[in-house]
Amino acid sequence: MFSKIFLSSDHGGFELKEKVKNFLINNNIHLEDLGCKSLEPVDYPDYAKILSKRLKKENKSIGILFCGTGIGISMAANRFSHVRAALCTSVEMASKSRKHNDANVLVLGGRILEEKLALEIVNEFLYTNFEAGRHSLRVDKI
Ligand code: RB5
Repeated sequence: MFSKIFLSSDHGGFELKEKVKNFLINNNIHLEDLGCKSLEPVDYPDYAKILSKRLKKENKSIGILFCGTGIGISMAANRFSHVRAALCTSVEMASKSRKHNDANVLVLGGRILEEKLALEIVNEFLYTNFEAGRHSLRVDKI
């Protein structure tokens, strides 16, 4: 089980980040919001980096990143070798990203996903465990 969830987004993901944050707070889940703080344009690689650095120090934590599509911020986060960021658009992808890939960062597209589906994806990601076994060998090769 994770100790804390870090959230971070650019402006394209800001509104969905706020909705996910409220959902997590309402469920008493320990989180830290690393920005951004408004709809003012910012650069998604900067926010991927802020979260990835925190995750390196606090490796019992997980992260959720957001940008408009989720694509740019997942590309940026996956440049960090300790990050396994999974861009998910379905509950099935969230489930497999945990079971098979041991993803430690969930990535969501704020301009792609409706709130209801996004929250279902978050819930699946949080409560699905890595299956290890044959998947560990593959994850170790990344
Ligand atoms: C920002 O306009 C947008 O490009 C960004 O949020 C993201 O979608 C990039 O992949």
